[in-house]
Order: sequence, then structure tokens, then C-alpha cells
Amino acid sequence: MTTYSLITGSAGLLGRYHAEALLQLNLKVVLTDVDQGELDTTFKYLKKLYPSKKIITSILDVTSPESIKKTVNDLRKNNIIINNLINNAAIDTKVRKKKSKKNHKFENFSLDVWNEEIKVGLTGAMLCSQIIGGEMVKNKIKGNIVNIASDLSVIAPNQNIYKSKNNNFVKPVTYSVIKHGIVGLTKYLSTYWAEKNIKVNSLSPGSVLNNQPREFQVKIKKLIPMNRLAKKNEYMGAIKFLCSSDSDYMTGQNLVIDGGRSVW
Ligand SMILES: NC(=O)c1ccc[n+]([C@@H]2O[C@H](COP(=O)([O-])OP(=O)(O)OC[C@H]3O[C@@H](n4cnc5c(N)ncnc54)[C@H](O)[C@@H]3O)[C@@H](O)[C@H]2O)c1
Repeated sequence: MTTYSLITGSAGLLGRYHAEALLQLNLKVVLTDVDQGELDTTFKYLKKLYPSKKIITSILDVTSPESIKKTVNDLRKNNIIINNLINNAAIDTKVRKKKSKKNHKFENFSLDVWNEEIKVGLTGAMLCSQIIGGEMVKNKIKGNIVNIASDLSVIAPNQNIYKSKNNNFVKPVTYSVIKHGIVGLTKYLSTYWAEKNIKVNSLSPGSVLNNQPREFQVKIKKLIPMNRLAKKNEYMGAIKFLCSSDSDYMTGQNLVIDGGRSVW
């Protein structure tokens, strides 16, 4: 059996950087997502950068136990088992330059949106941990689960930074609930599997610079002691640390990397 590291929601903004971090550690990677087109683009991008490394893709919907099991079974048929799981998938409504289509005001927050976002961001991480982490335990392998949370797993959103003349964007309540929940899931599983050689930690990134409106950037920077947003590659070191033996004595923790925002 060969061990691979699996990332959910690999085709988004940060997924490819998590993959790069693992490839730089000489690990083999399974990129998964629901978006076939973006998954193919991510695969091609990484293969060009790391032509000799082992990278495979699989469509995996984190909300569906059948879909997760299908990936696990397909991998097993190819003698592959997972020893690092990065629960990264989310429905992440980002602040946009144009007027936001969704109204996230809490007073009329839709139950459908609540259910949909919790299902991906929180239930998805639970299901992947249950099925893929469960396999690690069954196979008695040393494993890691890294749950991607956010600086908003430890602080509340400051809604003032999202408001502008052209946009009525409100950071949705689901985001806070999911990210605090992810930390709860991390703590629960870290002690549940502490003696099974499975480390479970969260990584809480702060906002990544990604063409956000200038007004938003000016406002958020004032909340960050380092006075800047993160570069897209600034979480790679943390992924390497959490998925290697350098963090062998660390479990149940939430590694917050946010330019100091949550300290103020
Ligand atoms: N980008 C940031 O500034 C930032 C900051 C803090 C935390 N985070 C967290 O980091 C993680 C990655 O963020 P991102 O910016 O790359 O997000 P993103 O929206 O760019 O990517 C998320 C990916 O998840 C996939 N996805 C959606 N539903 C899915 C499902 N049912 N099953 C599988 N995949 C599904 C999407 O197709 C997408 O490729 C998220 O958990 C996010 O909350 C991001």
C-alpha cells in the first residue's frame, strides 16, 4: 500500500498551495473537488511545477458519504491509502467589487443557505474525518487531519469592513458557526483518536490578498497589527509542519496565522 495525502476543495484559491506544501515535503497528493473543470486546471498547474511528483485527482463531494467512500474505494483498488487529510472545502462567499447578489443579513438569513453552507463547511469535514480518518484507524497507520478554519474561528467578524457604497455584503452567520464548529470537531477528534496515532489540528488563516475591493483592503488592514493581508503561499509552512513529524507532540490545537489580527 502507498500512502497519499488528500485535500478537499483542492480547486479553489488555497487548495493548490496546500498541495504544493505537501509536494515539497515529497508526499503524494490526491486533489479532490466537486468542480471537474477547476480540478483539471489545478492538476495541470501543479504537474507543470512538479512534473516528477505523484498527483492524482478524484471528484469528491464532501456532503455525500457515498462520494467520499467511492474515492476511498477507488484509491484502495490502486493500493493507495490516505494518511494526511486536509479538510479545506467550503462555500466561501467572498467580498466582491460588484453588488453582492446574496443578502446575508441575519434578520432574513435563509434557512436553505444555512443548511447548504453548514453541510459543506462543517458536516463535510465531519464526514471526511469519519470515513477517511476511520480508514486510518482501521489500517493502524500514523495519520494527520488538518481542518482549515479561519481567524474568524476565534473572533467575530467586524461587519464594518464589508460595508461600502456599492455593496451591502454582510459576513454570513454560517461562517462564524462553521469555523468555531471546525475547532470543536478538531478538539473532539484529537482526544478521541489520541491513542490511535492520529493527530488532529486546525489551521486558522487570516484573509488572503486576492483582488478584494480597495476600500475593503484599507479597512481590514487597520484591524491587522502587521497592516497587510496574507500572501496566498503564507500558509504552506504551517501545512508542512502539521503534516510532518515536526508536530508529532501536537494535537487538538488551532494554529492561528493572521498577522496578529486576533491578538488586538
Ligand atoms: N481565502 C481566504 O482568505 C481564507 C481565509 C481564511 C480561511 N479560509 C478557508 O480556507 C479554505 C479554502 O478557502 P479558499 O479561499 O480556497 O476557498 P474557495 O472558495 O476558493 O475554494 C473552496 C473549494 O471548495 C469546493 N467545494 C465547494 N463545495 C464542495 C463540496 N460539496 N465538496 C467538495 N468541494 C467543494 C469548491 O468547488 C472550491 O474549489 C476554506 O475552508 C476557507 O473558509 C480562506
